[in-house]
Amino acid sequence: MEFIDLLLLFVALSLTFLWVRYWSVTGGGPKNLPPGPPGWPIVGNLLQVCLQRRNFMYIVRDLRTKYGPIFTMQMGQRTLIIVTSADLIHEALVQKGPIFASRPADSPTRLLFSVGKCTINSAEYGPLWRTLRRNFVTELINPARIRQCAWIREWAMDNHLKRLQKEALETGSVEVMSNCRLTICSILICICFGARISEARIKEIEAVLKDVMLMTTPKLPDFLPIFTPLFRKQLTEARELRRRQMECLVPLVRSRRVFVEGGRIPSGNPDGLETEMASPIGAAYIDSLFGLEPVGRGRLGEEELVTLCSEVMNAGTDTSATTAEWALLHLVLDQNIQQKLYEEIVNCVGKNGKITEENVENMTYLGAVVKETFRRHPPSHFVLSHAATKETELGGYTVPADANVEFYTAWVTEDPSVWKDPGEFRPERFLEGDGVGVDVTGSKGVKMMPFGAGRRICPAMTLGTLHVYLLLAKMVQAFKWVPIQGAPPDPSETFAFTVVMKNPLRAVILPR
Ligand code: HEM
Repeated sequence: MEFIDLLLLFVALSLTFLWVRYWSVTGGGPKNLPPGPPGWPIVGNLLQVCLQRRNFMYIVRDLRTKYGPIFTMQMGQRTLIIVTSADLIHEALVQKGPIFASRPADSPTRLLFSVGKCTINSAEYGPLWRTLRRNFVTELINPARIRQCAWIREWAMDNHLKRLQKEALETGSVEVMSNCRLTICSILICICFGARISEARIKEIEAVLKDVMLMTTPKLPDFLPIFTPLFRKQLTEARELRRRQMECLVPLVRSRRVFVEGGRIPSGNPDGLETEMASPIGAAYIDSLFGLEPVGRGRLGEEELVTLCSEVMNAGTDTSATTAEWALLHLVLDQNIQQKLYEEIVNCVGKNGKITEENVENMTYLGAVVKETFRRHPPSHFVLSHAATKETELGGYTVPADANVEFYTAWVTEDPSVWKDPGEFRPERFLEGDGVGVDVTGSKGVKMMPFGAGRRICPAMTLGTLHVYLLLAKMVQAFKWVPIQGAPPDPSETFAFTVVMKNPLRAVILPR
């Protein structure tokens, strides 16, 4: 072998070594990233994660014990910094709030459904996000608007109880999640578009929303954008779904526009469907969006209007319905808790009295049941992905600006050094025990944070909680909930956008 061949071989081997080392060492090194499991060239830890065939949250739970409260995972071309301890979560989201308040880059599929990040949840920390979020807070969830829309919840809850009764009569039991989903979705459609529509159309919209959520969960091209051309079929399917979504919701946008701009009920149903304009002008979320002109975007078109209303339905349906399902599971399993709650309701409004929104906010035991459900079963085990606005430092490590920062918030409520017997469901802990005075917004310190914390905290936490309160109070006042004989509920969990019961709860309802 010539000297030059030897030299070339040496150079090639050295480069290969450095390349492998670069990709396989996720932590430490010259970048000072947090430690993490070694990965493969190009794919990083992606293969290891895929081969485990377990949900990501379980893999993170295990890695936490090995790598500590902050670690790195190299998922293809994406660097994920995972943060799991209460102290570091508080430091990042509250103390360094503005720095960790952005969102990471999105895949082409997600960009399609957010019209290039034109939603509150996906927008980068900046003027667009500020305008959209401010509008949402002042127009949709200010206390006066919530009171003004109380009739929507009353209408939807009446339908809910009738539907449960019918299902019980026909099948002998009721499925909780699907009914709660439908009811909350009908409320949010009416809040967004000011329209009362038929159950068949609500179901259609709900089905599309579910498909959108499944379509936008992270897939391989999110981590390996260089292979995006290989996933053309996926993008075609996404475009087809987007077309369906537009087809489903644009008629509601147009009907409302006629109503708002013409000051009249659309004559002869221009959308060809039954749409009853029920909210006065100005009371629907979309009314505020018609006039909005975010900097750099100008007037919002139908694409953006559909996207922003879908965001509300997406964000508010599964989260509240999941909480109601887990709460009812515990009421079915522990009849003492259910009886205590029933007695509180009867003491407050009587056996057949009407439960109002003011009533539920004053029911302390109901509040404790719901808080314990948020603690024991946070609907999402991570908050949405965050990103730092610039390279920064956390826990002594570097967090690059282009990394996904993932906060695994479920660990905080599972931590035995924070909660006594964390696996038990005990609402009383919020009346006299380790839950008294806990701040769910996490601003003073993090003990539980079902809604996130800091700048990106859920802006609709009061509305979401109100939906859960009303569902539980009305369902428990109307019926006694008991297990199906020979088929007790199975508390196993699975991931479906939120962490839900693997086998959806079915129970027998007995009129009180
Ligand atoms: C029990 C009910 C709910 C729970 C547990 C919940 C939880 C959350 C969580 C964990 C986040 C992410 C926070 C972060 O990224 O740091 C979030 C964001 C958000 N939620 Fe909720 N949510 C609920 C109900 C609702 C409802 C009813 C709506 C709309 C009416 C809504 C609208 C939003 C929006 C727009 C964001 C994005 C905020 C931003 O990025 O600035 N949520 N929510």
